[in-house]
Amino acid sequence: RKLIFSGMQPTGNVHLGNYLGAIRNWVKLQKDYDCIFCVVDLHALTMWQEPAMMAAQTREVAAALIASGIDTDHCLLFNQSMNPDHAQLAWIFNCVARVGWMNRMTQFKEKAGKDRERASLGLYAYPALMAADILAYKATHVPVGEDQKQHLELTRDIAIKFNHDFETELFPICEPLILGPAARVMSLRDGTRKMSKSDPSEQARITLTDGPDEIAQKIRRAKTDPEPLPETAEGLDGRPEAANLLGIYAALTDKDLAAAVTEFAGQPFSAFKAALTEVAVAEVGRIGTEMKRLMADPGAVDAILHRGAEKARAMSAPVMAEVYAAMGLLRP
Ligand code: TYM
Repeated sequence: RKLIFSGMQPTGNVHLGNYLGAIRNWVKLQKDYDCIFCVVDLHALTMWQEPAMMAAQTREVAAALIASGIDTDHCLLFNQSMNPDHAQLAWIFNCVARVGWMNRMTQFKEKAGKDRERASLGLYAYPALMAADILAYKATHVPVGEDQKQHLELTRDIAIKFNHDFETELFPICEPLILGPAARVMSLRDGTRKMSKSDPSEQARITLTDGPDEIAQKIRRAKTDPEPLPETAEGLDGRPEAANLLGIYAALTDKDLAAAVTEFAGQPFSAFKAALTEVAVAEVGRIGTEMKRLMADPGAVDAILHRGAEKARAMSAPVMAEVYAAMGLLRP
């Protein structure tokens, strides 16, 4: 049996990378599999978050998922802190994972920056919480963007070590699902850097709430190179901006990268950018409008999250009981 789990941080600026690398794939997967989607508010706390913003940002991510087509009658959708089992299991995994494993995490190095001594302990332990999110439900498949691959390898290592140490087969060894031609969407200003929520330049990302004019302007200004588009996918080597924009186009039109390249072979960027703008405005515009409608009724979004959390707790409780028993913890 396949059980899908994935999560997204409520840190604002939900962007095209989040959408094409993750959300759009989740919407497709929900048709065939049981799915749990989580707004990971505890993960967001690993970097400073303004308390007054947390609730709105949590609802924003929930609204983005629902507006994109996540069907909350069939999938679970809730925010992480509503199910305390995530944090509980994370502590246990802190005691299973090794410091040496955490030291290899490239995301920690990037996010902590130069002054590593002053990073939060939570940022360091972050991947153990991520493993707990997944394994609290014994999820088997985890659809994510390329940047989360290393964290999922660590999740597998934690499951393997737990099973080994406690002589059990309690946890499945989960598989990452890194899907489609836009599993790593890059900044519109620099094709060598990831599109991110925290980039100081708004021009670097298209967010799901951008209007048609903003989307058109960001694509028009997106960095390119002076050559026309290549004839073949191999021609994209060494041309990160062209590769990125064609990847985005391919994902939005449900084509593979090679087909997108063929469609615009030898054409100037201007013609391609016009076509890209058209598909981006159509899809993002539809989602953004629906997101804004949902966010105008926070009570309705909260009700969905509450309902999801109740079901989630009912699913993780028996797994936690097995964990406690395997470790010899005395329980009521
Ligand atoms: P987060 O919130 O940074 O991103 C959410 C999802 O969006 C993907 N993503 C991208 N995909 C393509 N191109 C990009 N530029 C891009 N930027 C982000 C991410 O890969 C992710 O799939 N640690 C996770 C959240 C998390 C999680 C989990 C995921 C917590 N627990 C358990 C899966 C399972 C994170 O910070 O994602």
